[in-house]
Amino acid sequence: MAIDTTTYAVPLARTITDMRAEVATWRASGETVGLVPTMGALHEGHLSLIDVAKANGATKIIVSIFVNPTQFGPGEDFDAYPRTEATDAKKLGARADLIFAPNAAEMYPDGFGTTVTVKGVTNTLEGEARPTHFDGVATIVSKLLLAAQPDCAVFGEKDYQQLLAIRRMVADLTIPVQILGGPILREPDGLAMSSRNVYLTETERKAAGQLNVILKATAEAITEGADIKKATLDAEAKLFALGFDKIDYLTVRDTKTLQPVETLTEEARILVAAKIGQPRLLDNMPVLSNS
Ligand code: PAF
Repeated sequence: MAIDTTTYAVPLARTITDMRAEVATWRASGETVGLVPTMGALHEGHLSLIDVAKANGATKIIVSIFVNPTQFGPGEDFDAYPRTEATDAKKLGARADLIFAPNAAEMYPDGFGTTVTVKGVTNTLEGEARPTHFDGVATIVSKLLLAAQPDCAVFGEKDYQQLLAIRRMVADLTIPVQILGGPILREPDGLAMSSRNVYLTETERKAAGQLNVILKATAEAITEGADIKKATLDAEAKLFALGFDKIDYLTVRDTKTLQPVETLTEEARILVAAKIGQPRLLDNMPVLSNS
């Protein structure tokens, strides 16, 4: 194969070999490479990650689009996950220099037998709710980093635990890349942007817009001295009253270890995963310390 420059306005690589050849050409002319790994169904949140890479010195941007089967558990939405490559390419326009969109056999060829497991920070929250998820993420992200060998790679803070796990993995495996976090982008009512928001019905969408409002009010109350346990239980009750079906967690954690925080002594993070209708919504924000 070769880089495809005719299908979309953005050049497209389907194989690691082609992407590496392009990166080698860029490097020979002194470019700095930024990678934005995605599963497609791009929204403004993804596009903002490109800006983060550029603000940190990337002069060439690769956006990878790959719905990674190994990070979905049984019964999760792998089949239903929106696949919108042509629209994604249009959205990227001139903001990206290369799309890397491999098929599953390119990333997981016959006989594939390696899994990257990050311990510690993955043992809680999403790791409890989705026991195989982070192995899938760590494996594909290490593959993408080794395939593209970028100078920096950007991940959204909406998946805060994922960002911490990737930082841990990159440090532990001494992968020579700078990992950058991109702030959560929000809809006008504050709902964190997510490719899965398309699953929400009109009524669910309205209630979903309250998730960030309740989270923010809880974070502020805790900063003002409210009891963490009581404040988070109150927040859960409000979500159930709004029609949320299941709350996997709504909790205040240490910003680095994600261990539970019972008394606020320094800045922490409040994180939530809650289901309304089909989608499971994730959000998080800092809880500032008053002391
Ligand atoms: O955050 C995501 O979209 C995915 O988990 C990632 C990092 C692209 C790996 O498949």
